[in-house]
Amino acid sequence: MILLLLPVAAFGFRLQGSPPLGAVRVEPRAALRALPQMVASNDEHVRDDQHAADQIIKLAELLDLPELVDGGIDLGQELLKEGRDLGITSPLSTFQEFDADYDVLQKPITSAKLIRKKAQTWTNVTSPSQDDRDQIDAAYEWSHELFPNIRTRGFDPTLRADGCQIPVGINNEQLNQAFGGEFGAELQKLTREVFIQGLPMEPKAQGIWNNEWAGTREEDEKTVRQRYEIALQKKLHLPDFLRKKPEHPYECETNLTARTEWITTQYFDPKGELNPGAWAEVSQDMSLRYLGKWDVRTPHGFTDEMFSQFYMASIGQSFVNGVDEKKNTDAEGATFVADNDWCSDAEVIEGQGKYGGKVYFDAQGNVMHIIYDKTKYQPGDQEWVYVKAKCRSTVLMLLTGMEHLLGTHLTFSNSLAMATPKLPPDHPLRRLLWPHIFNAIGVNRKAAASLSLEGGLFTRGWRLTLKGVHKAYEHVAEHWELFKFQTPRELQAKRKLGQFGKQMPLYQDGLPFFDVIRKYVGAFIDLHWETDEDVLADPDLRGFHTDLNDHLVNRDLPYFTTKGALADVLATYIYYVTGYHTHAGSAHAEAATQGVAQSAFYEEEKLDQQGAPPNAMAWGLMAYVGTASLTLPITGDTSSTEWKSGFKEKESYLWQPLPHDAAPCQDQKPVEPIGYPAAFEGKHKESRDEQAVNKNFATDLIVLQDKIMCRNQKRHKGEGYVPALSRAYNCFDVNFVESSVGI
Ligand SMILES: [Fe+2]
Repeated sequence: MILLLLPVAAFGFRLQGSPPLGAVRVEPRAALRALPQMVASNDEHVRDDQHAADQIIKLAELLDLPELVDGGIDLGQELLKEGRDLGITSPLSTFQEFDADYDVLQKPITSAKLIRKKAQTWTNVTSPSQDDRDQIDAAYEWSHELFPNIRTRGFDPTLRADGCQIPVGINNEQLNQAFGGEFGAELQKLTREVFIQGLPMEPKAQGIWNNEWAGTREEDEKTVRQRYEIALQKKLHLPDFLRKKPEHPYECETNLTARTEWITTQYFDPKGELNPGAWAEVSQDMSLRYLGKWDVRTPHGFTDEMFSQFYMASIGQSFVNGVDEKKNTDAEGATFVADNDWCSDAEVIEGQGKYGGKVYFDAQGNVMHIIYDKTKYQPGDQEWVYVKAKCRSTVLMLLTGMEHLLGTHLTFSNSLAMATPKLPPDHPLRRLLWPHIFNAIGVNRKAAASLSLEGGLFTRGWRLTLKGVHKAYEHVAEHWELFKFQTPRELQAKRKLGQFGKQMPLYQDGLPFFDVIRKYVGAFIDLHWETDEDVLADPDLRGFHTDLNDHLVNRDLPYFTTKGALADVLATYIYYVTGYHTHAGSAHAEAATQGVAQSAFYEEEKLDQQGAPPNAMAWGLMAYVGTASLTLPITGDTSSTEWKSGFKEKESYLWQPLPHDAAPCQDQKPVEPIGYPAAFEGKHKESRDEQAVNKNFATDLIVLQDKIMCRNQKRHKGEGYVPALSRAYNCFDVNFVESSVGI
């Protein structure tokens, strides 16, 4: 998840004189009190920025001259105004190649290392039996502006006080103090001021792609000359026929490959070959989060078959339902529907196109026709390619905003992480659930500071207004099965997908994955509760139920009336914070590969060229860069999520090179079922049995991995699967599953 460093660093830049774009000022006094706790760091980049910011803060305090800060701000505003008067904003832009408006938050992003390539281990996790209830009770709770009835505690008891989380160099205890301590409220106010009032984005200056410049980040002489020629011509008010019209932006060809290369190398280094001191120093590698690839390079583009796979075998699966003839009156004989056209009523930022799209499929999962913003489109229509692209964009927007952020993070993970630490220190469920809540609060509180607020990363990358997000929130809370508490098996049955659904990988792999978790949880419960009456009589479980339910969107958690009911609920939580989090939160390849699912699009289609405007594109990608670090692998074997074991059977469908320090596929060892024995240590008599149950869980997951890999070999070849399902799917393969929503 995205980092608190961003608003803090941005504030540092403000103090150094960078321009804000709005009239409302950050209140220096409040910020000055909150800031010093946040910026203690050993990292060189951070330290330099911090040093400069500290000096200005000290000077401002010493001289009692907050005007000093405002002076820098005014200077920046003047520079910006001058750029706009010239008809360009690029002199201040990090995206001058594309005439995108200045966005000061882009600056700190390119100056800090954000990514942890090594998997986390238990050494950074606290003991489940520690008693933190006083700190929990006293902690400040953050709200989430995009989702008004959700809140996250500022204190995360799973993080070792002497450890560090990302951003690098910021100590866990300091983070707990900053987010959960006496300045929590002021810090939240500061983040809102930075994102909303200090740095609004100009929707009309998002920039326009240009192939000639895509692929070079350095400001070359030709680029600069062209930019100033254009500016000068505008300033002199030359008549059109005297202006040397640039090829950019209105008639350039689309070069998606160059654009993908350009945007990805802004922030990460996929091959590890870049020179230290150059991009490697500022790059962020998210390639270990790629679950597959989409080949849009060839002239065929994103075909109808790929489009069908996108829904039936990839990130669109959770949107597919069986057609309801009473409700879907425009089905025209279709069997399946993915209906996101309600989004066309959700408000978007001025100048941006609406989201939407209701896609109909036949019994084999092939696309038939689309209703977009209440208008019908079908293959052969002039707009077909563009409408399909907008449908994919909407899927990625909803997957990211409503399934990943709201669903897995702020509902399932948040509820579990808010409730579990309130159980008594020796309660067995703390030991069972601790690995599944590691850093969950840590991530969610950062989301409150940078992602789930107006003007934050979600609304920068995707283009719903706050009103639009609230409309979507209301819709999904009322209509989506994801937010009605039920097991994944119950949910799948409600989608009425028939025999075809049994072959959709979300269910063909995901339901056995749930069964493995259910077996694990059931065995653990058997160790501690003999009968259903014992469950009913446990007062701690009643309090736990209340605490869990209090953080659900619809407050509809089933009661723990039996051992089975308790096991169903806990297994459902663990499913959503592990394998399903991979499904909803690992669309990195889709987000990065241009031509797959742009985060936003221009209202005026001729400007579009199959890509989000550069600023929105960069922010959308940043949201994924920020979710790229490795956390606790579900099997306990760190080599699994580092791609150093478990890939032997993947060779036939591997989509990118293995890490340079990993053994080749044919030499890779199987993943080891290590589990998390330390989580179950203690004086309780069931300790050994708990550890054995946990190890069996890891073993069962690895057995399931073998079956998934066999299926993927067949899916890749199209053996036994219709074309819409002939695509490998890796979300429940333990090489890609982590123990908690810790990123
Ligand atoms: Fe996530």
